[in-house]
Amino acid sequence: MTATPPAGRRTPSRRTLLTGSAALAATTAVGSCGDPAERSTASAPAPKAGARPATRQRGIAEPQPRYALVAGLDLAPARRTPASVRPLRAALAAWAALPLPPRATLTVALGPALFPALGLPAPAVLRALPPFPRDRLDPRRGGGDVLVQLCAEGEGDAGPLADLLTATASGLLVPRWRERGFLPPHAPGETPRNLFGFKDGTENPPSDEADRWVWHPDGSTVLVYRRIHMRIPDFAALPPGGQEEVIGRRLASGAPLTGRRERDPVDLYAKTPEGRYLIPSDAHVRLAHSRLDGGARMLRRGYSYDNGPGDRGLLFLAYMRDPALFGRVQRRLDDGDALRVFTEHRASALGLVLPAPGPGRPFGHPLLDSARA
Ligand code: HEM
Repeated sequence: MTATPPAGRRTPSRRTLLTGSAALAATTAVGSCGDPAERSTASAPAPKAGARPATRQRGIAEPQPRYALVAGLDLAPARRTPASVRPLRAALAAWAALPLPPRATLTVALGPALFPALGLPAPAVLRALPPFPRDRLDPRRGGGDVLVQLCAEGEGDAGPLADLLTATASGLLVPRWRERGFLPPHAPGETPRNLFGFKDGTENPPSDEADRWVWHPDGSTVLVYRRIHMRIPDFAALPPGGQEEVIGRRLASGAPLTGRRERDPVDLYAKTPEGRYLIPSDAHVRLAHSRLDGGARMLRRGYSYDNGPGDRGLLFLAYMRDPALFGRVQRRLDDGDALRVFTEHRASALGLVLPAPGPGRPFGHPLLDSARA
């Protein structure tokens, strides 16, 4: 497959979308530009304040649709050579041109091992995460040269799309792992709850902070993925007040133990008249708080997974400029978080989320450019 310039725009039908090889032909014809909003011209009006800059991929800053499919793929063993740069760019361009159901998003990231395999220098920001003492990682369920996050409102939407991605890159990329996640029904603007029953995602950075801590100026960011097993019966056996002390927030409202409403600030210094911290010293929100990282923030966008009793938990998906932040927070959580006895990290992956494609800027540019490609 080559990155042929657009031969005219076609809009594949949903049937075409769901049939691998036909869709491949159609998407290759559509060309290498991303979603229609990104096919702007120099004379297009400037984006409205608060709109997503055209250089950022979708599926990160938007409200979360109810379902997600996360997957890791590897370059096929025989294709781990510099000659694969060009076909990989073409495959990513074809992915970016896929027509998606409304509100569905595809987010693509490149893993650290991809770059040496292609004979390219690895981006400095993709340093491997350090090992954490409590990790129990299954390498077959994590890692990957290419990571994809597909989010969709319909439960059945993401699977066929993932199959289509695989078919589009067939012979070049082979599936490594795939996980399905969901959120409980929740009203627009409401914070969804995790499988411990707590609101999860309250303290995410507003857009001005995200500009500073999540996004690089070129529109890239880094995805940290962790598959975290949750010991739900053990946590549920705690009295509600005990659960709230573990998290540092109220179960019903999501308010911090130092406030009344969900959005009230987490006050790490507030004490009871007896001198005890209102947010206990081992509470999750204390040890994860950005104040302990000089204000650095990550954007969490997790989904629950449920494969029956014994295999339930959180697909932790977080975006940040520098994954060293995840390392610092996770080390603190590993050392002292009251939540740690109720959780176990069982898979891990890391990937550089490329800037979105745009005019004169094909997917993968400039990282996947090379003299040999
Ligand atoms: C199954 C594992 C986990 C569960 C159930 C969980 C749950 C929660 C809950 C309920 C909150 C409070 C609401 C909110 O602000 O979103 C929270 C906050 C937070 N969590 Fe976790 N979490 C988990 C793992 C992690 C991990 C692995 C990290 C990063 C290493 C992390 C980082 C954070 C951060 C940064 C906050 C916001 C803290 C603040 O500034 O108030 N969490 N988490």
